[in-house]
Amino acid sequence: LNISHDNSRVSAVLPTGESVEVLLFGATIISWKDAKGNEKLWLSEAAKLDGTKAVRGGVPLVFPVFGTAPDHAATAKLPQHGFARSSRWEFLGKSTSESSTLSATSAGDDSVKLDFGLSPSNLTEESKKAWPYKFGLIYSVTLGKEGLTTSLVVQNDGEQAWEFQTLMHTYFRVKDISTVSITGLESSPYLDKVLGPSSTGEPYTSPSAAVSLSSKVDRVYTPAGGPEAAVIIKEGGKKKFGIVRDNMNEVVVWNPWKDDAQGMGDFAPKDGYKEMICVEAGAVKGWQKLEQGETWEGGQVIMAAN
Ligand code: BG6
Repeated sequence: LNISHDNSRVSAVLPTGESVEVLLFGATIISWKDAKGNEKLWLSEAAKLDGTKAVRGGVPLVFPVFGTAPDHAATAKLPQHGFARSSRWEFLGKSTSESSTLSATSAGDDSVKLDFGLSPSNLTEESKKAWPYKFGLIYSVTLGKEGLTTSLVVQNDGEQAWEFQTLMHTYFRVKDISTVSITGLESSPYLDKVLGPSSTGEPYTSPSAAVSLSSKVDRVYTPAGGPEAAVIIKEGGKKKFGIVRDNMNEVVVWNPWKDDAQGMGDFAPKDGYKEMICVEAGAVKGWQKLEQGETWEGGQVIMAAN
């Protein structure tokens, strides 16, 4: 097991060759490779990795608001997707992971867990002012032979109750978006951020077929199978990734497609939208409320097929 840690990032390589790299900025996972060295995540060639902007690609962590929430007074002043992805986290250390319900891997030296922490003392004055609550986050990234697990513990360290949303904004790398299909979202209610609200104001319901993409997609699904049912990303009919969630009721599917990719200064190459799909596990519908001293835990296990 090989762990390296410098002032800006932590990386780990398993004896079998799998690797992961996490920036302290945002605790953003910027690389995850299998034993053969194949990259599983999409990272923009123009992504800023120097802390000047949230990272375009990899796995940015969204907290305490998904998108913007102008009608939710407590988070109304925050930037899109909150401050966690653009704050500098602390590396708390590594451990070999025990087998748990969230672990995709066997126990022992075959997997490694990297822990990162964020609390008000890590925030800029501006973020602290915009969201003046006492909180503690522990984000764990576990690399195993079969997959990658990300889990988040959120704690209310203050006297006052507060509410949050969170999401793991995974950019999966694919070869050709035109052959990608996603299963596990059949017959599920969803909000469509491209189409806007339906005429009845009720959520849309997805058909009983797999989801495929041929234009911009930005949808928030509440999978009918519940949080434990796997969401599978296939390419050319073959399973590529499987995602199992814990305490994350929603799945966001996003691809900016040609025009929006063009409009993003940090999105490169411009036709890179053909090689990515964001499938994001989150708790983003309504709010998770924590009273004094309470904690919340959620996460995902991502299994990669060869
Ligand atoms: C997705 C949202 O999660 O993130 C989209 O559903 C948004 O609406 C996308 O465009 C990217 O957000 P950002 O802030 O990283 O450009």
